[in-house]
Amino acid sequence: MANQLRLPFFSFNHLTIYLILLLSQSQQIFSTCRNFCNNIPINYPFSIDDGCGTPQYRHMLNCSATDLFFLTPSGNYKVQSIDYDKKTMTIFDPSMSTCSILQPHHDFKMSEIQSAIIPPSPDTIFILMNCSIDSPVLNHYKSVCFNFSGHSCDELYGSCTSFKLFHLLSNSTPACCFTSYETVKYMSMDILDCTHYTSVYNSDKLEGVGPLDWLYGMKLSFSVPDTGCERCDKSGGTCGFDVETEMAQCICSSTSNSTRDCGK
Ligand SMILES: *[C@@H]1O[C@H](CO)[C@@H](O)[C@H](O)[C@H]1NC(C)=O
Ligand SMILES: *[C@@H]1O[C@H](CO)[C@@H](O)[C@H](O)[C@H]1NC(C)=O
Ligand SMILES: *[C@@H]1O[C@H](CO)[C@@H](O)[C@H](O)[C@H]1NC(C)=O
Ligand SMILES: *[C@@H]1O[C@H](CO)[C@@H](O)[C@H](O)[C@H]1NC(C)=O
Repeated sequence: MANQLRLPFFSFNHLTIYLILLLSQSQQIFSTCRNFCNNIPINYPFSIDDGCGTPQYRHMLNCSATDLFFLTPSGNYKVQSIDYDKKTMTIFDPSMSTCSILQPHHDFKMSEIQSAIIPPSPDTIFILMNCSIDSPVLNHYKSVCFNFSGHSCDELYGSCTSFKLFHLLSNSTPACCFTSYETVKYMSMDILDCTHYTSVYNSDKLEGVGPLDWLYGMKLSFSVPDTGCERCDKSGGTCGFDVETEMAQCICSSTSNSTRDCGK
C-alpha cells in the first residue's frame, strides 16, 4: 500500500525535475546569470552576477535575501520595480522624508556614469523643504524652482503629518522649492541650506492630487547600450562580458561562451 502510494509521488518528482531542466534550458538560466532577484526580473542591461549584463552597469545592483538594491555613492536604495519596456527603475531612499516620516537630510549622490546612463527621469521631482532665507534657491538660483502643478509649500506643510512640524515650530511657512535632479546633482544639501527633502515620481500625473497620495521615491530612466546583445539573445544565449577585459560576450552554456552568438 505504502509503495503504491509512493510511486506516483516519485514519478511526479521526476516529471518536475524534467520540466525544470527543460525550462532552464529553453530560458538559458545558468547558475552564472540569475534572472530574478526575489520577484524582480533581472534582464539586460542589468545583472546581479558579475560577468552578466553589460559592464556599464557593473556593480550597480545587489540582491539580498529579501530585496534588490541600487548601489550609489550616497547609499543603497531599495529597487521597487524595473520596467523594461519604458526603461525605468523606481527606487526608494529609506532615509528620505515622506508625508509620514520626517528624517534629517541626506544627500542623494550618483556616480558620474550613473548620472549619464541612469539619471532620475524628468517626471521625478525633488522637493527641498525648510530652506533658510539665505538658501541659493531663494536667491541667486531662484530659477531652479518651478511651479509644480500649482502645488504649494503650504499644502505640503499642511497635509502631511511629518511636514506639519515645520509649520508648528516656526509659526510660519518656511520656504520650499520644487526642483529637478540637476539641482541636487550640482549642489549638496548643505549648500542648498534646506534641512529636509523628499522626492516624488510620476509628477506629471499629480495635478489636483494631494501630497498624501503622491508617489514618494525616484524613477530612474536607463539607457541600454548597444553591444550586439540582440543577436546573442536570439541565438539563445545570455549577454555578458569578460570580467577581466570587460569585452562583451555571449554566454551560451555553463561550459561555453562566444564573442557574438551561440551559432544556432
Ligand atoms: C563564461 O562567462 C561567464 C561570465 O563572464 C563566466 O563566469 C564563465 O566562467 C565563462 N565560461 C567559460 C567556459 O569561459
Ligand atoms: C551585497 O549584499 C551582500 C549580502 O546580501 C553583502 O554581503 C555585500 O556586502 C553587499 N555588497 C555591497 C557592495 O553592498
Ligand atoms: C527648519 O530649519 C531651521 C533652520 O533654518 C531649523 O532650526 C529647524 O529645526 C528646522 N525645522 C525642523 C522641523 O527641522
Ligand atoms: C502656479 O500655478 C498655479 C496654476 O497652475 C497658479 O495659480 C499659481 O499662482 C502659480 N504659482 C506661482 C508661484 O507661479
